[in-house]
Amino acid sequence: MVVATAGLLRWRRPAWYWLTFGVTLAVLRVLFRYASVMDACGLTVPPPRWRLALARMTNRMAPDSRPPRILRLLPARTGVVLRLKLRPGQDAFDVAAASDRLRHSFGMYGVTSRELRSGVVEVRMTGYDVLKRVQMPARLDTRPMRVPVALRADGSVHYRDYRTVPHGLTLGATESGKSVYQRNLVAGLAPQHVALVGIDCKQGVELFPLARRFSALADNPDTALELLEALVTHMQEVYQLIRAEQRISVAVPDAEIAADIWDLPEDRRPVPVVVLVDEVAELALYASKEEEKRRDRIITALVRLAQLGRAAGIYLEICGQRFGSELGKGITMLRAQLTGRTAHRVNDETSANMAFGDIAPDAVLAAIQIPAETRGLAISGDSSGGWHRIRAPHTSLRQAVNLCNKYADRTPDVPALAPFRPAVAALPSARVPLSKTAPATA
Ligand SMILES: Nc1ncnc2c1ncn2[C@@H]1O[C@H](COP(=O)(O)OP(=O)(O)OP(=O)(O)O)[C@@H](O)[C@H]1O
Ligand SMILES: [Mg+2]
Repeated sequence: MVVATAGLLRWRRPAWYWLTFGVTLAVLRVLFRYASVMDACGLTVPPPRWRLALARMTNRMAPDSRPPRILRLLPARTGVVLRLKLRPGQDAFDVAAASDRLRHSFGMYGVTSRELRSGVVEVRMTGYDVLKRVQMPARLDTRPMRVPVALRADGSVHYRDYRTVPHGLTLGATESGKSVYQRNLVAGLAPQHVALVGIDCKQGVELFPLARRFSALADNPDTALELLEALVTHMQEVYQLIRAEQRISVAVPDAEIAADIWDLPEDRRPVPVVVLVDEVAELALYASKEEEKRRDRIITALVRLAQLGRAAGIYLEICGQRFGSELGKGITMLRAQLTGRTAHRVNDETSANMAFGDIAPDAVLAAIQIPAETRGLAISGDSSGGWHRIRAPHTSLRQAVNLCNKYADRTPDVPALAPFRPAVAALPSARVPLSKTAPATA
């Protein structure tokens, strides 16, 4: 019975199997096989000379080679986390290079490693494919402007942190999951004190259903231009405010000098603004002279926001299918400011290069290899050169709409953006007294 249950769980509900049987078995397997696996994977070093000499003098067997010392073995929600102290002569790259062999030897689904500090390496092993059915952990570390947006292949949570990485670019072929990723961002930002601004040139089909939580929306390039120019004005006002707050004198301690909105006292701090742009190419394409002028003004405004917006609390989140120099001048300049890069499935190397060519060349290959059937799978990198395979939970439009309606009262009023506030009818009250709605019966 137990074996049958375990088999059934493993097949249908790998996450439950892991929590009930898998984790114990895996920990035992790692502990029992550790020394021999490390030896087979070439991760051992010969014993020190003094021990060899001692063995020779006392006429005993020469001691074995030594694997890295286990500092900690932690069972986790999706796998096992192993912390190793390397022996002299080993380096973190040895462990990273052996990760595929370790994966097979310990019978795990995935193994990744990273160096924690000099000589200490953390090996994260996952017991099953965590990205197949994404389930976010119940306990998440939420801080202002930090959104748990997706799950990483090693089982940890991927955060989109606007304070450390102000602007982001999301690329991907059509139907690859860009809009779902963006929807997750909106759902994560909705409960926070932040103004959301949306530009969705697909006639607003993605963002307008979420209108109740948005402070400004545009669904065509003309409105988008006015909206972006209003944002530039807003940015200048915020800088005026910061200037007025500075009043630096010798007596002001260093920590109290304001250079961005987060240094201002909370009661006078302007609300941060996240600008979400879906299908950015629509803003950069033109067919006539008039449209070309409009396009240049739009791109100029975007570049200015990307270059100067961070300290004023304006963050850009741009989505598109391609984002390269073929969209005209100013695009690569804008791209250089978008630090956080995410690429969903792309069809060719040049598209992947637009996301990662200039920061992490090996991520380009990983982005091309994403299979078409696992939509939502993406590669996310940053300027440090590191990248992760991530997948956002599948938030349906209905769930996102419900969340936005729930937090509609948190939509802040930004005076500069007031003309673009979407007009929405009042929510139908859930509890209308029956007597008022029931038709009068004679
Ligand atoms: N993280 C995910 N998990 C599961 N399914 C997903 C995920 N992301 C996307 N999908 C599926 O892929 C479909 C297309 O996603 P989405 O609309 O986000 O694509 P897109 O990249 O925005 O496409 P387009 O460029 O045409 O707008 C969704 O309807 C959904 O069924
Ligand atoms: Mg889309």
